[in-house]
Amino acid sequence: MKIIRTRDYADMSRKSANIISAQVILQPDSVLGLATGSSPVGTYEKLIDWCNKGDIDFSKVRTVNLDEYVGLPKNNPCSYYYFMYENLFKHINIDLANTNIPNGMEPDIAKECLRYDSLIASLGQIDLQLLGLGINGHIGFNEPCDIFRKSTFCVELAPSTIEANSRYFNSTAEIPRHAYTMGIGSIMSAKKILLVVHGEAKADILREVIEGPITTAVPASVLQLHNDVTIVADEGALSRLSR
Ligand code: F6R
Repeated sequence: MKIIRTRDYADMSRKSANIISAQVILQPDSVLGLATGSSPVGTYEKLIDWCNKGDIDFSKVRTVNLDEYVGLPKNNPCSYYYFMYENLFKHINIDLANTNIPNGMEPDIAKECLRYDSLIASLGQIDLQLLGLGINGHIGFNEPCDIFRKSTFCVELAPSTIEANSRYFNSTAEIPRHAYTMGIGSIMSAKKILLVVHGEAKADILREVIEGPITTAVPASVLQLHNDVTIVADEGALSRLSR
């Protein structure tokens, strides 16, 4: 694992955007795996800025998102479709037809999981997968549990995830209890992985991810087995590492 230490969130965002930008410049038809949440927002802001300045061209890029809440339509401001549209897609020259997010409104779980897996397969390998880190060690919505899931599945969100994400909802009752998520297998199949982490609140879990045993209890610890992982994290998030 390559660890890039940054001063703060802004520095983390700029450096991770630089890595994504280099990927797209070197390979304009890259398949990017994307994440939502607070961690990548600053990264997306930089990419938007550079795209508008003509430095990055997203016209040939294809994207595949990690996850989506079950039961939220695209026009719900809390849906991940809405997040991606508002925080990235509508500002850049990407073809929306080339962007992909699980369909949270599909009630047939088996059908949606199969559709998403076929779609991921049809894109070929993900060239660069961007990840945030859950406070409980989740990546995508692969919550701590007994097994690593290979492919897309419908997960029951952990109480800590519901609590962490409650900041986006008016009330806890509104938070969906289930989400569709890419499995650990699909994430690990990406050629390169970029994990962005900020803030002292994630220092303990990030230490476990980097230095702890590889265990389903800390799903992101599986990244130790991938041969091209870059972690861009600020001082706070890296403050509990032993080295
Ligand atoms: C989001 C996702 C999640 C988040 C994680 C961290 O698509 O897959 O794993 O990356 O919950 O969220 P933030 O960045 O809001 O702390």
